[in-house]
Amino acid sequence: MNNMLLYDEQKNFQNTPMENSFFHTVPLASAMGAEIVGLNIADISDASFDALAAALYHHKMIYLRDQELTYEMQENLTLRFGEFGTDAYTKGLEGHPNIQPVIKEADAKSKMVFGGGWHTDSPFLAQPPSVSLLYSVQIPPYGGDTIWYNSAMAYDNLSDVMKKMIAPLKVHMSGEKVVASLNGLRQRSEDKQIGNMWDNIDEQAMIDGNFHPLVRTHPETGEKALFIDKVYAKGFEGMSAYESAPLIDFLVSHITQEVFSCRLRWSEKTLCLWDNRLVLHRAFNDYDGFRREMLRTTVKGETPA
Ligand code: SIN
Repeated sequence: MNNMLLYDEQKNFQNTPMENSFFHTVPLASAMGAEIVGLNIADISDASFDALAAALYHHKMIYLRDQELTYEMQENLTLRFGEFGTDAYTKGLEGHPNIQPVIKEADAKSKMVFGGGWHTDSPFLAQPPSVSLLYSVQIPPYGGDTIWYNSAMAYDNLSDVMKKMIAPLKVHMSGEKVVASLNGLRQRSEDKQIGNMWDNIDEQAMIDGNFHPLVRTHPETGEKALFIDKVYAKGFEGMSAYESAPLIDFLVSHITQEVFSCRLRWSEKTLCLWDNRLVLHRAFNDYDGFRREMLRTTVKGETPA
């Protein structure tokens, strides 16, 4: 399956390392992702933040190991990017409503894990999160990785004919499948085992969702990317479900090829940031018997265009 969907010759985004006076970056994979080395979030200044944001827009996902973050530090770093994004799933931590706990308990019986399908964060919102920040508090001894895919590079690697064909399409992003899964979890009393992320849902608003351009342009870099996923994309405006389904399947299969991916092996106290406007991601559910705890914040994004 690998590389089978690449059109013609692969056009490569260059995930080159970035150097500046604050840190250097070590690419994680050829398509995207990088470790930021030499920067302590506790010491971040306006200038080093600007360099960090530039590194994020270039590498699309960045991570920093061994960061001693308090809730306030994670909140403050998030706010440097913009106001907090809407958290459609939880009420957040007590006293810190914008910090969303993402937890799977050691005794969880559920086959489901938060973020386990290929997705971009909360695209059913009118203004989905631009950037997500995830901080690892407790990590299993094995498993529990996260994988990301560069959907700008995936767009670049479509044929010109396909690009032209999909250019006018609007995708309906809806939380319908997530709401249905949640109701199944609740019926089986499994919802608390995968954390308390399910107590803030406005089900109807999630199901109604929003229509967004399938090909969106990044407001900072001008890059075009495919804005579609497997969890929330329901169909295309003006097309039947029957017509939409194969195109959704094709585009998601195209994006989620290894050549476009990077995969992070977490360690505790790692802070990772990604740009939802041009990546998909997915959490692995492969650490049964162990607890995993993460803290997530998001930045409110613009209306996709
Ligand atoms: C998420 O989808 O935001 C969670 C990813 C993870 O827990 O690895």
